[in-house]
Amino acid sequence: MTSHPWSAGFETLPGEHDYRVDEVDGSVPATLRGTLFRNGSGRNDLGGQWFAHWFDGDGMISKIRFDEAGIHYRNRYVATDNYRDETKSGRIVHRGFGKMRPYGVLGNAFRQPANISNTSVVMQGERLLSLWEGGPPTALDPATLDTHGIEDFRGVLKAFSAHPKIDPDTGELFNFGIDYGAKTTLTPYKLDRGILTRLPQVVLPYPVMNHDFVLTARYMVFCLGPILLHPLRFMLGFKSFDRALHWEGSKPTRILLVPRDGVGEPRWIETDAFFQFHFANGFEDDGAVVLDLARYPNYSTIGEALRTYWRSAWPSRGMAALTRLRIDLGTGRVEKQTFTSGAANEFPSINPAYIGKRYRYAYFASNPAQREIGLQQQISRLDFETGAVTSHDFSPAGYVGEPLFVPTRAGGAEDDGVVLVMVFNSADKRTDIVGLDARDLAARPLFTARLKHHVPYPLHGTFTPRLF
Ligand SMILES: [Fe+2]
Repeated sequence: MTSHPWSAGFETLPGEHDYRVDEVDGSVPATLRGTLFRNGSGRNDLGGQWFAHWFDGDGMISKIRFDEAGIHYRNRYVATDNYRDETKSGRIVHRGFGKMRPYGVLGNAFRQPANISNTSVVMQGERLLSLWEGGPPTALDPATLDTHGIEDFRGVLKAFSAHPKIDPDTGELFNFGIDYGAKTTLTPYKLDRGILTRLPQVVLPYPVMNHDFVLTARYMVFCLGPILLHPLRFMLGFKSFDRALHWEGSKPTRILLVPRDGVGEPRWIETDAFFQFHFANGFEDDGAVVLDLARYPNYSTIGEALRTYWRSAWPSRGMAALTRLRIDLGTGRVEKQTFTSGAANEFPSINPAYIGKRYRYAYFASNPAQREIGLQQQISRLDFETGAVTSHDFSPAGYVGEPLFVPTRAGGAEDDGVVLVMVFNSADKRTDIVGLDARDLAARPLFTARLKHHVPYPLHGTFTPRLF
């Protein structure tokens, strides 16, 4: 049984829908034309049995088209082997991030988690790639959301994170994968006009979990916090991947700078232990690298909340704070700056034209500073130049996900655009698609489009000006 107002937003959406959204308050700006894609755990249970972890849910894509006729919604599940097998049998067939197969150790030993393709999406040419960090992407048709299948670029790709970065000037896509084995390796990748290149692999000192990175003019930058995997406990089937993770706070966070041209040695810099899932952005500045991230003091609070997702109180204490790190490349010194940006800061995003560049604004989910529990109800904007934070509060009934900034005027200012967010309305258990004016976040939304059903809290997404 669910126990909090936000809990119902984790419930499975069983159906696949395809309809024009009729209930719209306000109006969609004429400059907002294109398609929003979102991915996330759409099926979080089988036969009423919740999966062990939020990250176990089957990938489900939402496609929201903004065109002259209005707003169109469509959703489909990614037809992975896991989705097909478990739909057919109505019970757990494959291991997941936290999910275990039946029959104990024997049922799980030497089985890898299934690729459930549930974390993000990115457009690549005419295809939509659905992403999951433990394996290769799954290619989809962006118009019909038909699943074409695994895309491993002729066997080159194994793990491929869900947080690729596209250089706004060159169009090159950079990403990485972590592969666990006798040695744990981090492989950086570059994808340029459909050609995938593997950059020199980096052997990690121990097996860590890492989810995101920063692209700057010269580097791919990683912050490898001491969240370590016990590979044997996992591989032998004693523990799930999640339960085989442990925090070793006596170890440092290792900052890794990998030359993005593949030439030269990587550089390591150590700093005090912290954990992050997500970066807002980063850039090079006068002999330093600046990194902006949602920084957790450790993995305990967030690790437990993700594990108990639907019934968690989602406590604020121990959650992330938007933080700027400045790494002096001469001395290796790391300076930390924090902001008064409310509680439980997560899902930071920016104007994609500023990836890897000096920039001014980040948008993120948050809660008011004094709020002690609950999923995030605010979308906030931080102005790094002034430190000013403005917020749009969706309380009492609304619970937010990742804000996505969409520029709406070619050559416009950095914040000339719309912030799109999906908001779970706990009062009637439906999800709204909301557009906020990025320059006036606190104002009444530009529009609120009401879906006929809820969309289980999505993770990440992408917007393309193309209409699908
Ligand atoms: Fe993520």
